[in-house]
Amino acid sequence: MAVSPEQQISATHFVREIEKNDGSVLKVYQCSTGDVGCVVWDAAIVLSKYLETEQFCNSRSGVSTWSSKQVMELGAGTGVVGIMAASLGANVTVTDLEDLQPLLQLNIQENRELVRTGSITAKVLKWGENVTDFLPHPDYILMADCIYYEQSVVPLAETLKLLSGPDTCIICCYEQRTMGVNPEVEKRFFELLLQDFEAEEVPAERQDPEFNSPDIHILHLRRRNG
Ligand SMILES: C[S@@+](CC[C@H](N)C(=O)[O-])C[C@H]1O[C@@H](n2cnc3c(N)ncnc32)[C@H](O)[C@@H]1O
Repeated sequence: MAVSPEQQISATHFVREIEKNDGSVLKVYQCSTGDVGCVVWDAAIVLSKYLETEQFCNSRSGVSTWSSKQVMELGAGTGVVGIMAASLGANVTVTDLEDLQPLLQLNIQENRELVRTGSITAKVLKWGENVTDFLPHPDYILMADCIYYEQSVVPLAETLKLLSGPDTCIICCYEQRTMGVNPEVEKRFFELLLQDFEAEEVPAERQDPEFNSPDIHILHLRRRNG
C-alpha cells in the first residue's frame, strides 16, 4: 500500500504547537530520533514569545519592530524562533548544519501561511566558517540554546563577531545549566564574547508573562564602540 507524504511525516516526526498573541498557531515539527537540533528547546519558546512582547510589537498601533528587519538565526534547529520573527514581518535567514536543513525546510513549508509581509530562507552555516554569503550585517542575530559544548566556544564567538556590524543587536537566549561542563562552557563563552560586546540582560518583567523561567536568560549584545 502506498504511504502518503503526511503518513511518512507522522511516522518520524511529532508536532509542537505554539500559539501567537494574535491567536494563530505555529506548527513546529520535531524528529522522533536525531541530534539536539531536532527538537524545540525551552529557550527557543522563551525567545520566540519574547519577540512578540510589547517592546517589539505594539498591540495598539499594530506596529512591529520586526517589519522589514534583516534577521539571522544561528543554530536554528527546528527554526521556530526564525519562523516567529518572519511571521512578525522580518526577512529571516535561519541557519544550522547541513543535517538540519530538511527539518528547517519542512517547518518553513508548514508555516508558510503565517509569513505574509516577511520572508524566510534556510541556509547552512557552520560556526567558524566564512560568513561573506550572509553580509551585509543583519539588524538582529537570534540564538537560542547554542552555548553547550566546549569545541563551539571559539568558532561561535568568531561567527558572532564577523556577522555583527555597529548597529547589529544579538539576542541570545540560553538555559543556565549547573551540570557537567555547562557552567565552564558558558563562562568561557561570555568571557570571550564580552571582550568585544556589551551585554544587557532582559529582566523577567520585560519577557512574556507566561513563557519565562528563572533558569532561562535573555541577553541583548552589541559591539563595543571602537
Ligand atoms: C541545543 S540545539 C538548539 C536548537 C534551537 N535553537 C532550539 O533552541 O530549539 C543547538 C543547535 O546548534 C546547532 N549547532 C551545533 N554546533 C554547530 C556548529 N558548529 N555550527 C552551526 N550550528 C551548530 C545544532 O545543530 C543545533 O541545532
